[in-house]
Amino acid sequence: MTAQPYTDELVDRLARANRVCVLTGAGISAESGIATFRDPDGLWAKFKPQELANVKAFLSNPELVQGWYQARRNVALEAQPNAGHMALVDLASIVSDFTLVTQNVDNLHTRAGSKNVLELHGNIARNYCIDCNQEVEDIAPIPDGETLRCTACNGLIRPDVVWFGEMLPDGIMDKALTKAKQADVVLSIGTSAVVYPAAYVPLVGREHGAYVAEINIEASDIASMINESVLGPSGKVLPQLVEAVRTRKRSGKQ
Ligand code: OAD
Repeated sequence: MTAQPYTDELVDRLARANRVCVLTGAGISAESGIATFRDPDGLWAKFKPQELANVKAFLSNPELVQGWYQARRNVALEAQPNAGHMALVDLASIVSDFTLVTQNVDNLHTRAGSKNVLELHGNIARNYCIDCNQEVEDIAPIPDGETLRCTACNGLIRPDVVWFGEMLPDGIMDKALTKAKQADVVLSIGTSAVVYPAAYVPLVGREHGAYVAEINIEASDIASMINESVLGPSGKVLPQLVEAVRTRKRSGKQ
């Protein structure tokens, strides 16, 4: 049997917790084949966010930006939720008040079966017209040299994701921070925790007395400010951890 990468205390705390708040980042989808941003083979090592992920770039080169998001959307649509996503669905079923906050736009938590996911940075599966705001569901392949435009008003179509310099969806951060403040345990999973305000979720949880653990293949930026860093791929660690919590709850030794 391989040694468990997490402490008994984390298992105990989760087994006793009434309220759990989880923040996820790109790392939880890495085992589904979706590139992260800041790992050596991540998106920001190959592409420049200033050319692709802000409104100015979009307006000056919509063809490039739409094409890049279409390629990412196709990768996300073809990917399957992995054991880490599934383990969080399982954890939600054994905790009375469970909140899942994600920075990911890939929709994999919802496709895995998670409910009411707080998507801080939007969802790449959705698109809308920048002029009339109409949602556009089916995105056909964009022919070379063309841009995707609204059938109603001819406005440019953009992905429903948060770009650099943009506000997060209305009220979403308040909801996430309220849950983090109330939580007995906060988990920060597969995120470098360098992007704010998202990274406030674990930090605010800690400040308000939650036991805070991260699950990551390496210690993140906030490692020294939280209770525990569990090192390992989330697709392996999470199912093992959730099973341990189930066993602890069944044994009644909480
Ligand atoms: P990052 O790419 O910054 O960080 C991914 C994290 O996942 C790193 O800390 C990796 O060590 C870890 N990781 C990689 N594989 C893993 C695995 N199998 N299991 C567990 N951890 C693993 O991605 P985010 O933190 O999500 O924002 O980035 C935050 C935001 O920055 C994104 O939402 C995006 C980006 O710019 C916007 O697009 C607005």
